[in-house]
Amino acid sequence: MTTSSATAKIPATLIMGDGIGPEIVEATVNVLKALGAGFDWDYQEAGMAAVRLYGDPLPRSTLESIRRNHLALKGPLITPVGGGYRSINVTLRREFQLFANIRPARSYLPEGLFKDVDVILIRENTEGFYVGVEHYIPIADDPRAVAEASGIITRFACRRIAEYACELALKAGRKKITIVHKANILKALTGLFLETCQEVCRRYQDRLTIEERIVDNCAMQLVINPAQFDIILTTNMFGDILSDECAGLVGGLGMAPGANIGTEAALFEAVHGSAPDIAGKGIANPTALMLAAALMLEHVHQHDNAERLRNAIKDVLGKDQVRTPDLCGEATTIQFADAVIRRLD
Ligand code: NAI
Ligand code: MG
Repeated sequence: MTTSSATAKIPATLIMGDGIGPEIVEATVNVLKALGAGFDWDYQEAGMAAVRLYGDPLPRSTLESIRRNHLALKGPLITPVGGGYRSINVTLRREFQLFANIRPARSYLPEGLFKDVDVILIRENTEGFYVGVEHYIPIADDPRAVAEASGIITRFACRRIAEYACELALKAGRKKITIVHKANILKALTGLFLETCQEVCRRYQDRLTIEERIVDNCAMQLVINPAQFDIILTTNMFGDILSDECAGLVGGLGMAPGANIGTEAALFEAVHGSAPDIAGKGIANPTALMLAAALMLEHVHQHDNAERLRNAIKDVLGKDQVRTPDLCGEATTIQFADAVIRRLD
């Protein structure tokens, strides 16, 4: 156990989220408690749960809590499709300039499709097609005859994410960065991303191998031979899509954690959404959020606890074969969490 876990508690915002959110958050908080991680949780609402309670998907008290604590763990939040309020996830990322989205995918299942996946996807988290600059153009009696969206990418944000990726690569002892783009078609939008990332990465080429790949080819290569990838550095939308693909390589969305790191806060969550199809059944896989909690532990310098948690998860999935139904097991969310707690040494 680290000294920090034995001393002062670390204040952190806790958002239960929508759908399976409360189930996986509860399981994860139980495990963190058993670890002795020492977080002082400040419970806040966001998403549909906040709409029901306060008529606002992102209440001021939630924003203030994150601003105060600079640290948050959150369950997934529902975003209405088509109309309705703007994604709270996107709003939080922009509000706190959470510019780096770190999504590691690692093989934990001994009999999985791929046993040697260990890729960290780094996604620019504030720009691209997620800036919300879109509208309809009416023609004759059709108010939505044409839809138009603009992607925005700045050299500043490309530089910032590329520098973050290179520094993370060195810190994590990684060897290679693959810059993923679509500069053959979106020549300006992702061309600027490619050009700026290459410029930054060039400064690290004595220590890191730098490659570039067009996104469609990258998507295919990930399925054919995922072990060739070490760090993938990409834009907001490509990162969103490829990180779900990476999750699929290691057992599905129940296995993929994410960290949103910024200048003003750090927010940890699973890659997946609220999983409405299984919400309330108590069978969601909490592994993704637990692995996100491991990233959070590293962020607060509890490296030993992070490793203890990952080892326990690995043993439960591999040796104990305790698994939730998405991994063809029969365990409930809480049974899985209890098994992880038993494995903590
Ligand atoms: P989803 O990720 O919620 O679900 C996709 C599929 O994966 C479903 O079949 C679901 O049952 C399964 N799945 C996901 N997480 C799982 C887990 N932990 N254990 C077992 N199975 C799991 O994606 P979907 O259905 O497209 O989105 C649902 C809602 O979530 C939408 O409102 C979307 O906007 C939101 N969303 C929120 C995110 C966030 O808060 N960061 C991220 C992605 C989506
Ligand atoms: Mg996504």
